[in-house]
Amino acid sequence: MRSLLVSCLFASLALSTVVPRARQKVDYSGFKVLRVSLPEQRGDVEAKIEELAAHVLNPGKVEHLDVVVSPDKVDAVKKLVATSKVINEDVGAALAEEGEIKKAEFSVAAVPSESWFTAYHAYADHITFLRDLQAGYTGQSEIITTGTSVQGRTLTGIHIWGSGGKGSKPAVLFHGTVHAREWISSMTVEYMAWQLLTKYSSNATVKALVDKFDLYIIPIVNPDGFVYSQTSDRLWRKNRQTVSGNSCVGRDINRNWPYKWEVPGGASTNPCSETYKGQAAGDSPENKGLRAHVDSLRDSRGLSLYIDFHSYGQYMLWPYGYDCNLVVHNDAQHRSLATRAAAAIRAVSGTRYTIGPACSTLYATTGDSTDYTDAVGNSTYSYTYELRDTGSYGFTLPANQIQPTVRETWEGVVSMLKDV
Ligand code: ARG
Ligand code: ZN
Repeated sequence: MRSLLVSCLFASLALSTVVPRARQKVDYSGFKVLRVSLPEQRGDVEAKIEELAAHVLNPGKVEHLDVVVSPDKVDAVKKLVATSKVINEDVGAALAEEGEIKKAEFSVAAVPSESWFTAYHAYADHITFLRDLQAGYTGQSEIITTGTSVQGRTLTGIHIWGSGGKGSKPAVLFHGTVHAREWISSMTVEYMAWQLLTKYSSNATVKALVDKFDLYIIPIVNPDGFVYSQTSDRLWRKNRQTVSGNSCVGRDINRNWPYKWEVPGGASTNPCSETYKGQAAGDSPENKGLRAHVDSLRDSRGLSLYIDFHSYGQYMLWPYGYDCNLVVHNDAQHRSLATRAAAAIRAVSGTRYTIGPACSTLYATTGDSTDYTDAVGNSTYSYTYELRDTGSYGFTLPANQIQPTVRETWEGVVSMLKDV
């Protein structure tokens, strides 16, 4: 990444009077995705790979890493690893299959139609979507904000309630897009809000669920990263926070939560890494806002269910991330809800999810959201969903898979909301 950024920087210095740097998009034409396995003596091999790679797609994975590499660095990476194979010959061509970011079509403010879920959208339009949706249901929803990003964007969501009135029921909290490149997660979280409000008066199941909870739904918790992934680097993951004396940008907000943050092994202390944990626990402004919100829900009616929506891999994971030998006290209940939710998803489309405790099922993470909502937020249930797919398209899931994905995921979420 570093060399890519540096070359972008030089290009933009030369052109700085003509084109602002943010407009210079990383061109991935000819870049490859290599699936590599590390040598037995790992040493600092992983760090060296991160230095050569433009991005690591699955940072933390033990069995193999999928890394995006420019053509001239392929040989250098191959020399470092035990085995490697090219799983994508041309990342630029693959990105082009995703579909364009659709330009806004809002003329008069009206409740958004289902066609919203047929394309990816710009950040400002996501905010308009939420406001237009809320404006159609002023008696049972409000726009909420949970803090401010590094660059001053407001973390914006929607709070939905039912017949008991605002703030009368246990809380359910959904987060999307903590990792900037995981665009399908914004669409999915928005679909949850859209379904709950637009189906409330016509669907008895939806009404019962909305009447049972206060739902807090925040589709994009990393707005700066999301904007950067649209304007500059489609594969950006972290926020856009700097570290003094270092040219690398970004903290992984999902390694920054102040619970077991200091435990080694589940995050990086290198600011250039995809999983940089930050200089201190909870030192990203995004985390501060999100954490205050979790704490306040805990202190009012309590949290029943938290879901953090990511992509990709098709997993449902629950605590703990920070220790592979720890079992959460209600592990069996977490498993039973996930089993039923995964079956509900599979019944819609055949999509198969792998379920299990996060660390032992996927990889170790320290300072992640679900450990915090479980241990500090006292949420009865805490899950990470990794949405479609299992790697064919990865983060750049084609737009024609948005509707199938949000519809199947809805059934999984309904199953969980019924079971809680
Ligand atoms: N893939 C997400 C991330 O890297 C979620 C990880 C869930 N926790 C875990 N221990 N695997 O942040
Ligand atoms: Zn993620």
